[in-house]
Amino acid sequence: MSAFRTITRRSLLAGSASVAAGAALPFAVRAVANSINQLELTAAPGRARMVGRNYPTTDVWCYGDRIPGPQIRVRQGERVRIVVYNQLPEETTVHWHGIRLPNAMDGVPGLTQPPIKPGEQFTYEFTPPDAGTFWYHPHADSLQQLGRGLAGVLIVEEAERVAVDRDLLWVISDWRLTSGAQIAAGFGNAMEAAMSGRVGNTVTINGGISEEVSVRAGERIRLRLVNAALARIMALRFEGHRPVIVAIDGQPCEPHEPAGGRLLLGPAMRVDVVLDMQGEPGRRYRVIDDFYQDLSYWLTRLAYDETPPIRSHPPDGAPALPRNPLPEPDIASAERHELRLQGGMMGGGAMMGLGGTEGIGRGASWAINGTSMVCNGSPDMPPSLVVLRGRSCVLTFRNETAWWHPMHLHGLSFRVVSRNGTPVPHRQWADTVLVAPKEVVEVAFVADNPGDWMLHCHVTDHQVSGLMTVLRII
Ligand code: C2O
Ligand code: CU
Ligand code: CU
Repeated sequence: MSAFRTITRRSLLAGSASVAAGAALPFAVRAVANSINQLELTAAPGRARMVGRNYPTTDVWCYGDRIPGPQIRVRQGERVRIVVYNQLPEETTVHWHGIRLPNAMDGVPGLTQPPIKPGEQFTYEFTPPDAGTFWYHPHADSLQQLGRGLAGVLIVEEAERVAVDRDLLWVISDWRLTSGAQIAAGFGNAMEAAMSGRVGNTVTINGGISEEVSVRAGERIRLRLVNAALARIMALRFEGHRPVIVAIDGQPCEPHEPAGGRLLLGPAMRVDVVLDMQGEPGRRYRVIDDFYQDLSYWLTRLAYDETPPIRSHPPDGAPALPRNPLPEPDIASAERHELRLQGGMMGGGAMMGLGGTEGIGRGASWAINGTSMVCNGSPDMPPSLVVLRGRSCVLTFRNETAWWHPMHLHGLSFRVVSRNGTPVPHRQWADTVLVAPKEVVEVAFVADNPGDWMLHCHVTDHQVSGLMTVLRII
C-alpha cells in the first residue's frame, strides 16, 4: 500500500491545507417550509481535491459536483421529492439507505424500478418517518459507482431541536489512490472479493484528508459519523474524550459509552455521538482508527482553540433523543429464519467448500444458505424469505466464514437482540449489523413494510459476489 492517508502520512501531508471538516457544510440543501421539498440531484463525473494542494485533483463520479454529495436535510414527517438526473456513462439508481420508505422508492434496479439510463431521470418521493442520520448511494454497478465517489448524507431533523452547541457531520470514506492521486483501477478483483474487499489507502472526512478539526473547550457537539467506505471497517477512539453513543443507524438508543471506548463502524453504518469537549484549550487530541491490527492511523485531530471553556462543567447526562415510531417486535410469537453466511477464503488460501449447493462458482465467492445472488441482484431470482405483513420476525445471521460482514436490510429497521446467544445490552435499532467471523447474531423486527427488500452484506465486493438475497413482505 502506498499513498496518502492511512499508512504514510506526515511526509506526504506536510504543508497541505487542512480540510475544514468541522466547519458548517456550505452545501446543505434545506427544506423549504410549507410546500413539498423538491430537490434535484445530478450524478455525473467530476473532480475533487482529496489529498491537498501538492497533488492533482482526483477524477471522481459524484452527486451535485461534490464529494460527498449535497447534504440533504429535511424535517421528520415532511414529504420530499428528489429528481435524480443521470449524467454518468452508465445506468444508475439512488438508494436511500436506512429510510423506511415505500418499496417503489428504494432504488434497486430490476427489483423496485428500472435503472435510470444515461441522460434520463427518475423522481423519488417519500416521507421519512424517522429522524436521524441516513445516507444515499447508487445500487447499480455498486463497486465502481460507490467506489468512485457517489454517496451523500440525508439528515432527517427531529421535530424539536436537540440541545447541543454544534451538529457536525463526518462522512468517512476510503479510497484506493495511485501516486498521482487518481482512483486505482481494478474494481471487482476476485481475490479481494473473497477476502476483506477493496480496502483503500486513503481515508477522507467529508471528501478530503483532514489534519484537524477545530473545537472549543466546553462545547457539546453532536457528531454524526457515517462510514461510506466500500469495505473498510473502522474502530474509532477519541484520545482524551468520552463519546456517548446516542443513535445508531439513525435510530436513537439509550445513551451509552462504547465498549472499550472504541466506536465500531462497518461500511454503511452510522453512529451519532455526543462529545463534551473536556480537553485543554490549545491542545490537540488524535482520533485514531485501530480496527486493522498493525494498520492503525489517525483520522484527524481535535484542535482546541485558546479560548477558555465556554462552560465551567459539562452539562449533565447526554441528551436522549426522542424515539422514532418503530413497531416493537414480539419475540415470543415471532417467526424465525436462519441465514447462514458462507464462502470466502478460509485459512491457508482455500475457498470455503459449499458442498452440494448450487450458486457458488459462477463468479460468486459467497452464498447465503447455499445460494449466491450476484451483481445487483437478478430479478428472476425468487426471494429466499417470504414473510406475512405485520408478523414479528427474528432473523439469525450465522456467520460460517472467516470474515466480517455488515449485514444490511432495506426498508426496515431491526433490533439487535443477541450475539452468540447472549442478549445485547442496549438492543439497539439498526439497519446494518456488523457480524464478526463465526459469530451468530439475532435481529428482530415487525414486517410492516410490504415489498421486495434487499438483504446483503455492505462490504461491496461481498455484496456483488454472492452475499445478497431478497426478503419479500406480502
Ligand atoms: Cu446501503 Cu443495499 O444498501
Ligand atoms: Cu439500504
Ligand atoms: Cu461481507
